[in-house]
Amino acid sequence: MKRIVILISGRGSNMRAIVQHCVAEGWPARVVAVIANRPDAAGLAFAAEHGIVTVVVDHKAYATRDAFDTALAAAIDMHRPDLVVLAGFMRILGADFARHYEGRMLNIHPSLLPAFPGLRTHRRAIEAGCKLAGATVHFVTAELDHGPIVVQAAVTVLPGDNEETLAARVLEREHAIYPLAVRWFVEDRLRLAHGIVTHADGAAQWL
Ligand code: GAR
Repeated sequence: MKRIVILISGRGSNMRAIVQHCVAEGWPARVVAVIANRPDAAGLAFAAEHGIVTVVVDHKAYATRDAFDTALAAAIDMHRPDLVVLAGFMRILGADFARHYEGRMLNIHPSLLPAFPGLRTHRRAIEAGCKLAGATVHFVTAELDHGPIVVQAAVTVLPGDNEETLAARVLEREHAIYPLAVRWFVEDRLRLAHGIVTHADGAAQWL
């Protein structure tokens, strides 16, 4: 039984999708803790209601990024995770932190990486005249919103789309690809070599 720790900063809808798929599909895994860097993260309530341990490591309580990273890693490691899942976790993590979880930490980003890392991805995609937008699940490296790509989903950018309408359509796809990627990981279906992720059975790594 693989142990999953999920990190959130807010709403936690991707965390919810992962918890629900894990239970409904009987994965060989369990979400053992949900950790937030903000005490008011709305997703904490859902986790608690589902009997999952919730923890807050408030970044405001730490003078430096390093001190926060150290406290966060201690809180995570207490739960002995096989996999750490960043689900809308909006803090930049240091290189040592990324190295510590190398090959066992996933992130979702609402763009077709390597396009548009960072913030305001949907607005930037619309302003660039992109015809496709989407989301990417990737292994985390020290570089922000960067790392070996596990799965991507594309949506069309429609005439008249604004940041909100595009974000909503992409989020719907996020709720499909993030559970898929986590399931593949806990079922040992992912192979990572030379920065490229493949699926052991050749499953399509896109939606
Ligand atoms: C999601 O759209 C996720 O892709 C994005 O934050 C949102 C969190 O929503 N993450 C990033 O921008 C990371 N760079 P959620 O809290 O409802 O899952």
